Amino acid sequence: MKEDSQKIQIAAVFGSPRRNGNTAALLKKAVDGARDAGADVTEIVLRDLKMSPCLEIYGCKKQGRCVIKDDYGEIEALLQQVDGLMLASPIFFYAVSAHTKILMDRCNSLWVKKYWIDKTPFGQKSYPRKGLFIAAGSTKGKRLFEGAILSVKYFMDALDMELWQSLLYRGIENEGQIRDFPDALQEAYDAGNALARRLSDDNPHS
Ligand SMILES: Cc1cc2nc3c(=O)[nH]c(=O)nc-3n(C[C@H](O)[C@H](O)[C@H](O)COP(=O)(O)O)c2cc1C
Repeated sequence: MKEDSQKIQIAAVFGSPRRNGNTAALLKKAVDGARDAGADVTEIVLRDLKMSPCLEIYGCKKQGRCVIKDDYGEIEALLQQVDGLMLASPIFFYAVSAHTKILMDRCNSLWVKKYWIDKTPFGQKSYPRKGLFIAAGSTKGKRLFEGAILSVKYFMDALDMELWQSLLYRGIENEGQIRDFPDALQEAYDAGNALARRLSDDNPHS
């Protein structure tokens, strides 16, 4: 049995305003999968947090830390420690939810740290950490997820993470409707499990 300190650490961010909605149900399965693979998963439910939007004051330029005092402080620290991230958001107007976008914008403190303070060159190709993105939308258009995926890709880059896999579900509208699709829930479980195993393979100390 691995010591907790040696376990793969994953943050699971629930980005929907619905506590028991579609993306929450999928992410819970991914969390189960990651835990069953031995990962230590910290769940963050954004709707329960007090988090201001980014105020664009660039207080983060001094030390790469956001200077607004609210619940983001703990998340900022956690997101720098974890090996991986699982992020779930509904599609709202072809983008992520407002809750999710507030977190993304606050993480500009980590973008500032990475590129301005630590002077990491742009155009990074290989990332030490990996992320899974889960999204659902009610319509079925080909381009439904394009905006969200672009946002998530560059958000994860700020965290030094590769967008490793996306699970995208069209035609899902009512609260909990995704539970009528056991294959989707199984896919989410498998993705969480595979993410934890992949991070473990990449990290010889875990
Ligand atoms: C404010 C708002 C905006 C939405 N915008 C879109 C949209 O642009 N495209 C779409 O297909 N569905 C849209 N939807 C539907 C949700 O994406 C869909 O119901 C999804 O399954 C909700 O996931 P959740 O239960 O995890 O919150 C929107 C819903 C709301 C409340």
